[in-house]
Amino acid sequence: MLIRSKRGWELPESAVTPEPLYLSRRGLIGGAAGLAAISATVPAAPALAQAAPATDPTADLYPARRNASYTVERPLTAEDVAANYNNFYEFGTSKRVARAAQALPIRPWSVVIDGLVEKPQTIDIDSLIRRMPLEERVYRFRCVEAWAMTVPWTGFPIKALMDMVQPLGSAKFVRMETFGAQPWAPGMRSPWYSWPYVEGLTIDEAAHDLSILVTGIYGKPAPRQHGAPLRLIVPWKYGFKAVKSIVRISFTSERPVSFWERLQGGEYGFWANVNPAVAHPRWSQATEELIGGGGRVPTQIYNGYGEYVAPLYKDRQNERLWA
Ligand code: MTE
Repeated sequence: MLIRSKRGWELPESAVTPEPLYLSRRGLIGGAAGLAAISATVPAAPALAQAAPATDPTADLYPARRNASYTVERPLTAEDVAANYNNFYEFGTSKRVARAAQALPIRPWSVVIDGLVEKPQTIDIDSLIRRMPLEERVYRFRCVEAWAMTVPWTGFPIKALMDMVQPLGSAKFVRMETFGAQPWAPGMRSPWYSWPYVEGLTIDEAAHDLSILVTGIYGKPAPRQHGAPLRLIVPWKYGFKAVKSIVRISFTSERPVSFWERLQGGEYGFWANVNPAVAHPRWSQATEELIGGGGRVPTQIYNGYGEYVAPLYKDRQNERLWA
């Protein structure tokens, strides 16, 4: 029996376009109208406290020592602003998913680490966190929708996890995956996304010191809406690379196809490095809106991290590095 459900591209734009596309199309193409539109979507006041679980079993590890190597010239985004302006499609397409995300059960939680490694394992999140060298880092964060924030993440370099599982020489990529369909994640009932949320890096990108797996934010365990208990942060790439609530990390020989790439490959590719000179097919990436009222500022190539990461791409100039 063939059951034909309408595909995304057959539905009206307002009904189907993921919010990053839809809002941006309406408001971000430039000019005053665009600024007005994004300002209207940024909450001015807290709607919900940043709900780190009071009983988090690793709470004693926070705040972690701050690594001063990476400094940021911008003021920190207010904690309540960051905690109430999120993308977490498993809980809905609005930015106001913080409340819905409180349904995410973050303990017990285990992470499968498999694929091309010497030591595949399934590890309990608390054991993992306690084994890893936690530290705090303040990074710029740039969403492909042209909004940005500056926040103190707590986490550890992916390289430390690689040292634990020992990737084989044949491992060329790292694939990371969020939980699969769950009754408490209403956004996953949406028929036009291909769950689970998947992202990936090359092994060189993953081993770069800037690439971290995040467990906390603002000196505390991360609240659920930020991707507790474990999410990726790669600050020179657009924010959609930063997969949340990871349950599986696989080392592979083949390049993974990510969530957005599968949905709209013409607009969201594998590399997704920030570049103000390369517009998204439907809007400019030249500037970004600092959420919480910081105004609009120029976007920097590699989100300002070029001095650290540009060498990763010197032999890849013929690839689509910027989308
Ligand atoms: N991870 C999952 N599992 N689901 C998502 O919808 N959204 C991505 C990324 N990670 C997303 C995700 C996008 S588009 C962005 S911009 C960031 O998370 C937002 O992170 P924040 O809500 O902590 O600011």
